[in-house]
Order: sequence, then structure tokens, then C-alpha cells
Amino acid sequence: MKNFIVFEGIDGSGKGTQLKMLEEYLKRTNQPAVFTREPGGGKISEEIRGVIKDKENASMTDICELLLFEAARNQHLHDTILNNPNKLVICDRFTDSSLAYQGYGRGIDIDVVSKLNSIATEGISPVCTVFLDVPASIGENRNSRLIDKLDRIEMAGNTFMEKVYIGYKNIIKDNPSRFLVVDGTQNPDKVFDQILSGLKQIGIIK
Ligand SMILES: Nc1ncnc2c1ncn2[C@@H]1O[C@H](COP(=O)(O)OP(=O)(O)OP(=O)(O)O)[C@@H](O)[C@H]1O
Ligand SMILES: [Mg+2]
Repeated sequence: MKNFIVFEGIDGSGKGTQLKMLEEYLKRTNQPAVFTREPGGGKISEEIRGVIKDKENASMTDICELLLFEAARNQHLHDTILNNPNKLVICDRFTDSSLAYQGYGRGIDIDVVSKLNSIATEGISPVCTVFLDVPASIGENRNSRLIDKLDRIEMAGNTFMEKVYIGYKNIIKDNPSRFLVVDGTQNPDKVFDQILSGLKQIGIIK
């Protein structure tokens, strides 16, 4: 989908920081855009997000978690992504997060996750996925929030995030043309410059 951009990366890779900078840039340059996030975006999806993130749901199975993400994804597709054909739709996380976290991280069969991704997205995919390349050790160091502020998935620890990071690297190797990979360990302004010039080069933004 020509107007659809996704940001991906491990926890603490700087997605939120860069999305805010992009939002300000697009406002300043009068380019209409909708910023959204997964899981979430509308009432039903945000309610599912609450169930997924709730620390009290410690007994949630991996398959339950995956299916909740996919359920939220399809609802969000219809509520938000397909509903804004004349604006850029920019989403914090999408199908690659399910592959990286539930597939490579939790160990669910990658083909199963891919199949569920394609059911949930009904074949819709972003024109560009910006990957903020930050290794697990750096992401964790940045994540200086108090432990009681971390959600259920963030509490899974560094070995888990290591697997997620390796997962992202495999996904990028399998889909090189869809990705804009930016070294996210640089300072935020430098990271943003590279995102901007990459997106301009592809012709998605001005
Ligand atoms: N380029 C950077 N260099 C150093 N620190 C950064 C950089 N970008 C963001 N940070 C800091 O790292 C932390 C995580 O950033 P941010 O919340 O933007 O990441 P995120 O990818 O949205 O994380 P999450 O997946 O947990 O939502 C914040 O404290 C932020 O200020
Ligand atoms: Mg974030």
C-alpha cells in the first residue's frame, strides 16, 4: 500500500522518539498523516492491547498472545489503515513484530506466524518498513524505566530481546527491498536525518 509506512525495532530502539520527530516534520511541511500503533488504534484494538500488556495476565499462553495480536491487527487494518486513503498512515509496529517477538522470540513456528499475519492483513503490506537497528544490549540500557513500569512483554528480559533482534535481522535478509535500515545507535537527530532522506529517496514524503 503506497501510503503506508511502518516503524520496527526492539524495545528501546527509539521508535517513539523518531515517530514524534516525523510527526512534527510532516505537520511543518503540510503533509497529511495519521500516526497509529499496534496493537491498538481503535476502541476494540486498544481493549485487546490492554489484555496483552496486563502484568496480571502472567499465565497467558504464547499462542493466545499471538492470536490476540493478530485479532487486533485485522480490526486496526479496517478501523485505521484502510480508512485514510488520502493521508500517509504511519504505524508503530506491524507484522514483523509478530514474526520477531512471537516467532523468533517465543519460538512459535515462523510459517504459522506468517500465515496468521497474512490472514490478519488480508494481503496489505507497507510500502516501506523503517528498521531502527539497535542491538538488545543497548536497547536494554536505554530502558531505564523502573521495573514496575515495564509491561508483561518488556519484562521477558535480555535473552528474549536478543532472539527478537536476530529475528529482525533474518526478516530483513528475507525482504531486503521493503526495508529502510537505519543505525539507531546514533544520536536522535542523525537517525532522523537518515530516515528523512531515505523516505524522500523512495518518494513517499517530500
Ligand atoms: N538515538 C538515541 N540515542 C540515545 N537514546 C535514545 C535515542 N532515541 C531514543 N532514546 C531514548 O531511549 C529510550 C527509548 O526510546 P523510545 O521510547 O523512543 O523507544 P521505542 O522504540 O519506542 O521503545 P518501546 O519499544 O519500548 O516503545 C528513551 O528513554 C529515549 O529517550
Ligand atoms: Mg515506543
